[in-house]
Amino acid sequence: MLQVRVTLDPAAVVAPVSRRTFGSFVEHMGRCVYTGIYEPGHPLADEDGFRTDVLALTRELGVTTVRYPGGNFVSGYRWEDGVGPREHRPRRRDLAWHGIETNEVGIDEFARWAAKADVEIMYAVNLGTRGVQEALDVHEYCNQPAGTRLADLRRANGAEEPYGISMWCLGNELDGPWQIGHKSAREYGRLAAATARALRAAEPGLQLVACGSSGSGMPTFGAWEATVLEEAYDLVDYVSCHAYYEEHDGDLGSFLACATDMDHFVDSIVATADSVGARLRSRKKMQLSFDEWNVWYMSRFQARPTPTQWQVAAPVIEDEYNVADAVVVGNLLISLLRHSDRVTAACQAQLVNVIAPIRTEPGGPAWRQSIFHPFARTAALARGVVLRTTVDAPGYETSRYGEAPIVDAVATYDAATGALALFAVNRDQARPVELTVDLRAFGAPARPAGSWTLWDDDVRATNTRDRPDRVTLRPAEDVTVDGHTATLRLPPISWTAARLTTAPTG
Ligand code: AHR
Repeated sequence: MLQVRVTLDPAAVVAPVSRRTFGSFVEHMGRCVYTGIYEPGHPLADEDGFRTDVLALTRELGVTTVRYPGGNFVSGYRWEDGVGPREHRPRRRDLAWHGIETNEVGIDEFARWAAKADVEIMYAVNLGTRGVQEALDVHEYCNQPAGTRLADLRRANGAEEPYGISMWCLGNELDGPWQIGHKSAREYGRLAAATARALRAAEPGLQLVACGSSGSGMPTFGAWEATVLEEAYDLVDYVSCHAYYEEHDGDLGSFLACATDMDHFVDSIVATADSVGARLRSRKKMQLSFDEWNVWYMSRFQARPTPTQWQVAAPVIEDEYNVADAVVVGNLLISLLRHSDRVTAACQAQLVNVIAPIRTEPGGPAWRQSIFHPFARTAALARGVVLRTTVDAPGYETSRYGEAPIVDAVATYDAATGALALFAVNRDQARPVELTVDLRAFGAPARPAGSWTLWDDDVRATNTRDRPDRVTLRPAEDVTVDGHTATLRLPPISWTAARLTTAPTG
C-alpha cells in the first residue's frame, strides 16, 4: 500500500471558507429551466410550477449562489421578454443553443425559485447585443425599492420588495468568437468599465464580475484579462474564470490530474491581475469568480451538427457522469478551496440536466448523478477556515499535465466547534493509499466524527433513472484516530471526506 502523509496546523490559515464557493448555474439552455427546475403539470410541481423534487435536491446539494440566466444564452437575451403577464411574453429564437425560448420563466419566477431554494442570485447582464442602458434597466427592475418606472413595474408584477441582488456578472465569455456580440479585449474592457461605473452610480455596494477568458486554451488567455483589467480594475471586484475538463481518448491518468490544471489556471490569473494592479499602483487584490467549472464531454458535443430544428427545451449536453468524473469533481473542489484567499466565488455549471449533478425526466423522477455526492458532502463539511495542507505524496507522469501527485487533499477547520474536515483524492488507478494525518499542532487529541468515500470497482459506473443510487457515498473503510494521528485508507481512484473533532480553540 502506498504511504502518504498530510500535516495540518490550525495556525496555517489560507483564508475563511467562502460560502460562495458552493455556487451553481441555471442557464436558459436545454432542459435546465424547462423540465428541470420548472415543469408545471408535473405531479410534484408546486403552485408556481417548480418541481419540488428538484428544489429538495438543490437544498441537499448545499448550493449557496446560483448564476442566472446564462451563459451564452444571455448574450442575446432581452430580460423584459420574461416579465409581466405570461400570455404577452414573446417566443424568441435563442441563437446560442438553437432553441425556442418561451419566456415562461423570467427574473420574477427565478427570484421566487431562488427564495424557495434558499440561494443567492448572481445575475448576468447581456453585454453581447446590449449595453449600459439595458444593464441599468434590469438593475432598476430588480433592486430599486419603489417610485421609478421599472421598480413599480416589478411591484405591479407581484414583487413588492426588491430582490437585492448584490453580485452582477458583466456579460459572458465575450472573448469567444462563438459568443453573440463577441468583442476584442479592449472593446469589452471599456464596455465593462462603463457598465460598472453606471451600476455603481445606481448602487455603490454591488459586487461586479468582469469576464475573464472562457478557457485557458483560448489564444488570448492572460492577455485578455490584462487588457480588460487595465480598463476596469478599480471598478470591478472579480474577474471570472471558466474551465471544463473531460477524459480524452481514454487517458484516465491525465483526467484524474486535471485539478493541477485548475491550480495553474488560478495561479496564472492571480499573477496577471496582480501585475495589472501593481502597474496601476492599486492596493486592491482582485478576486476570482470561477463561475463555470465542471466535467463536460465537450468533444462529444462538438462532434454533433448544430440542430436545424428550433425546439423548446430539447435535451442539450446531458452528460451522464461516472465514478471517475465524481472523483475529479471532488478534486476540483479541493483546488477551489485551496485557493480561497483569491477564489471567493465559484459556480458549478450547471444545476439540472445540462452537465449537471441533478437529472430529471419530464413527468418522471429526479435523481442524483455521481458528481452530486462530492459536491454535497464538501458543501456540508467545509466550515471555518481553509488550512494550508501539506501533502507528502509520490508523483506520477501524465501526458497532459506533466507530473502530478498521487494524492491531493485540503482541510478546513472551524475553531468555534473544533470540527476539522479533510477532503482527499487518490488518483492511483491500482493501488490503495494509507493516508496518515499529523494533527500534533492541534494540541488536544482528535476523535473521528464521520467519513465518506466515493469509489467503485467499476470506475465507469453511473446513476440512471432505473438505478439512481448505483454510485453513492459509502462509509470510508479503516479510519482510525490515535490521539494526534489519523489514518485513512483511500481506495484506488477515490474521493474521501473525513470529519474529526478536536477541542474548540476559537
Ligand atoms: O455551461 C455551458 C456553456 O459553457 C455556457 O453557456 C457558456 O458560458 C460556456 O461556454
